[in-house]
Amino acid sequence: MSQMKGRDILTLAEFSREDIIKILDLADRFKKERKKFIYKKILSTKTLAMIFQKPSTRTRVSFDVAMNDLGGNSITLNSTEIQLSRGETIEDTARSFSRYVDVIMARMQNHNEVSVLAKYASIPVINGLSDIYHPTQVLADLQTIREKKGKLEGLKLAWIGDGNNVCNTLLIGCGRMGIDMQVASPPNYKPDRGAYELAKKASEKSMNNIEVIEDAKEAVKDADIVVTDTFISMGSDSQRTERLKTFLPEYQVNSDLMNRANKDAIFMHCLPSHRGEEVTDEVIDGTKSVVWDEAENRLHSQKALLSLLLLDEYSC
Ligand code: CP
Ligand code: NVA
Repeated sequence: MSQMKGRDILTLAEFSREDIIKILDLADRFKKERKKFIYKKILSTKTLAMIFQKPSTRTRVSFDVAMNDLGGNSITLNSTEIQLSRGETIEDTARSFSRYVDVIMARMQNHNEVSVLAKYASIPVINGLSDIYHPTQVLADLQTIREKKGKLEGLKLAWIGDGNNVCNTLLIGCGRMGIDMQVASPPNYKPDRGAYELAKKASEKSMNNIEVIEDAKEAVKDADIVVTDTFISMGSDSQRTERLKTFLPEYQVNSDLMNRANKDAIFMHCLPSHRGEEVTDEVIDGTKSVVWDEAENRLHSQKALLSLLLLDEYSC
C-alpha cells in the first residue's frame, strides 16, 4: 500500500485493493464517529474548489458538507462563472487554481478535460463525474455494499441498462474488490472499451468474473446486488426518444426483475432516478432499496478520500 497524499483520482483504477479498503475503513469511522471528527477539524487550512460543467445535487452538497465538517473550506463554481467559459484554457485554469486551493473536484463534460486539468494542476484533482467515469460514486457504492453485506469479495453484482459512466467505474471497483459483475445492456449501449480493459486488469489479482451480456433476467440470476442508472445521462438528452424505445421494457428494474435476484438482494442507484423509466416506485421505495444510505455514504467516503489525499496518513 502506498501513500495516497497528492494523488489524482480520475477513474478509480489509481487505487489498489488495499487503498480502497483503507478509504472504506476510514469512511466507516467517519460515519460512526461523525461528531468526533467534526470536533477535530482535521482539514482546517485546506480549501477545495469545485468546478461544475453539469448540474449536481449529491456530489456538490456532499463535498461541501465534507469539507465543512472537517474544518476546511470549499468554493463551488459553475463553469459559466469563470474565465473557462470565455476561452481560458483548462491548462491555465489548472495552473491558477493550484496557487490558491489544495484540491480540485471537477465535473466536466468530457473525460479528456478532467485529465488535462489533472495533468496541469500541481494539486490533487478528483473527477466528480465525466462522460466515462464517476469514481467518487463507486467509493460510496462499495462502502454501502460492505455495510449491507458484511463483505465485498465473492458477491455478485448485476448492472441493468446503460453501460454508462457509473457502470464503467463499478466494473473497475468490482474488479479490484473481487465482486463478480454481470452487465446486461443492449448492443449499442455496452460499457466503454477502455474501462472494460481497466476492469479486466484490475481483476487480474482478485480473479473475479466480469461479463457483458444482453439478457437482464440472466444477469440478475444469483445476484446479491442489482444496480441501475438513468437511460439518459447528462449530455444524451437529445437521444431521449430512441433510448427509451431501446431500453424499455426489458431493462426496467421492477419487482418482477428484482424478485429473480437472490432473496436478500439489495437495490442500488446513484440517483437522480427517473421513476417509471429505469426503475419503478415499488423497487426504489421498497424494502430492498438502499439508495438513501448509498447517497449518504457519498459524504463519509469523500471525507475519507479528501483526508487521505490531503493529509499525511498518521494525521487521520
Ligand atoms: N449521484 C450523483 O452524482 O448525483 P448528483 O448528480 O446529484 O451529484
Ligand atoms: N449516468 C448519470 C449519472 C448521474 C449522477 C449521468 O452521467 O448523468
